[in-house]
Parts: sequence; C-alpha cells; structure tokens
Amino acid sequence: MQILHVDASPKTESSVSRFLANHLLSSLDASSHVKQTVTHDLRALDLYEVDDDFIEGLRRGTTGARLDKIRSKSDALVDDLLACDLLLISTPMHNFSVPAKLKLWIDHIARAGRTFKYSESGPKGLLEGKRAIIVVSTGGIYSSGPGQKRNHLGPYLTSFLNFLGITEVSVVYSEGLDISEELRARGIDNAKAELDDITSHLGQDHQSVAANESENVQ
Ligand SMILES: Cc1cc2nc3c(=O)[nH]c(=O)nc-3n(C[C@H](O)[C@H](O)[C@H](O)COP(=O)(O)O)c2cc1C
Repeated sequence: MQILHVDASPKTESSVSRFLANHLLSSLDASSHVKQTVTHDLRALDLYEVDDDFIEGLRRGTTGARLDKIRSKSDALVDDLLACDLLLISTPMHNFSVPAKLKLWIDHIARAGRTFKYSESGPKGLLEGKRAIIVVSTGGIYSSGPGQKRNHLGPYLTSFLNFLGITEVSVVYSEGLDISEELRARGIDNAKAELDDITSHLGQDHQSVAANESENVQ
C-alpha cells in the first residue's frame, strides 16, 4: 500500500493532528502493509497563490516561463496523489474550515483532465479505487451542540474528495483540545482508539486484496 500524507498543521512542534497521523502511520508500518509513504509537509511546500498566472497556467495549451513552473508544481503534486492507494490528510480546523495552505494544495490538485473530467452527465472524479483518512484536530467541540452547524471542515473535505472519485473517506476528530486538560486528553485518546480501529480494518482489507491479486496471478 502506498500512502500520501498531507500534513497541514502550521505548528512546528506539538501539533496534535500530526501526532495522530504519525500514530496511524507507525501502526500501519508495524503491520508491514505499507510499501512507501510520501509526505507533503505543507509548511515546507512552496505553493503558488491563485492569481492570473495560476489560472492561465493550469489551462491546457498555455505556455510561458512562470506558467510552466506553476503547471509542473501542480503536475508533481497530482502525480503523487495518483500514485497513492491511501491519502492521509492531517489538519487542524482554522476558522471552521481548512487552513489556508491546505486550500492552496486543493487548488493545485483539482485539475480538469487529471483528477476529474467533464462528461455529458456532469463532472466525473478520476481518483477511483483510493481511500482517504482525514485526521482533524479542533479546539472546540463539533460532534454535538451548536458547533455541529459550524463544522465546515470534515464535510467540505469529504465532499471535495468524493467529487474527485474517492468515495471511501473516514474523518477522525480529536476535539475539545483547547477547552481543558481533561477534554484535551480525552479528545486525543478517542481519536487514537478510532485510528487503531481503522488500522486493524485496513490491514484486513489489504490482506484480502493481496490474496485476490496473488490468486489472479496464478
Ligand atoms: C488561525 C486559527 C484558527 C482556529 N480556528 C479554530 C476554529 O474555528 N475552531 C476550533 O475549534 N479551533 C480553532 N483553532 C484551534 C485549533 O484548531 C486547535 O488548536 C487544533 O488542535 C490545532 O491542531 P494542531 O495542533 O494539529 O495544529 C484555530 C487555531 C488557529 C491558529
């Protein structure tokens, strides 16, 4: 299984979403189902702002020094996405939605003709057969109470990935992190337990796919 990890926390240290994603990655590694993990730490990735050149550069048939650079950056990110079996996104909630850099990554990989296409029956996602896990950390509570209506992060990312053809999307929340020490510890423990559950199922799914593939080869 090939994994693409997109890490969207701007924090240098003590990011909870990154800690949880690494927890998932080490359990998957230990189950020895992982062939390769490619990590895109969005803090270190030079992404382009969406301006005239960006819009022009991602259109087919355009050319120019800056447009070419923008297109090759987008192409490289799309290549990594196409190559993965599992997309893991770890992200904090920023103002009820995705951090700005994660939105820019989305702008770079949403490419007509590469990750989705227009058909007579409307747009069609081209990333079929992949799975996504989104690890979200939030200061407040969104699973119940008034916060529920303000959660534009998990539902947005799920809807966007569905649009690209990834229909198997799990969102794991670690919430209440900035309310009290007690809620923080509980939020992290709950998320870890959910991730452990996902890991054990992923291992089983992967084993049966591998067994089917080897039967087909024989
Ligand atoms: C710019 C900014 C905006 C934030 N907006 C929200 C928010 O809308 N809702 C919320 O619950 N927490 C919000 N937070 C808190 C973070 O989501 C929370 O601390 C999270 O645990 C950080 O995750 P990380 O440690 O992985 O970076 C915000 C934090 C920052 C820096």
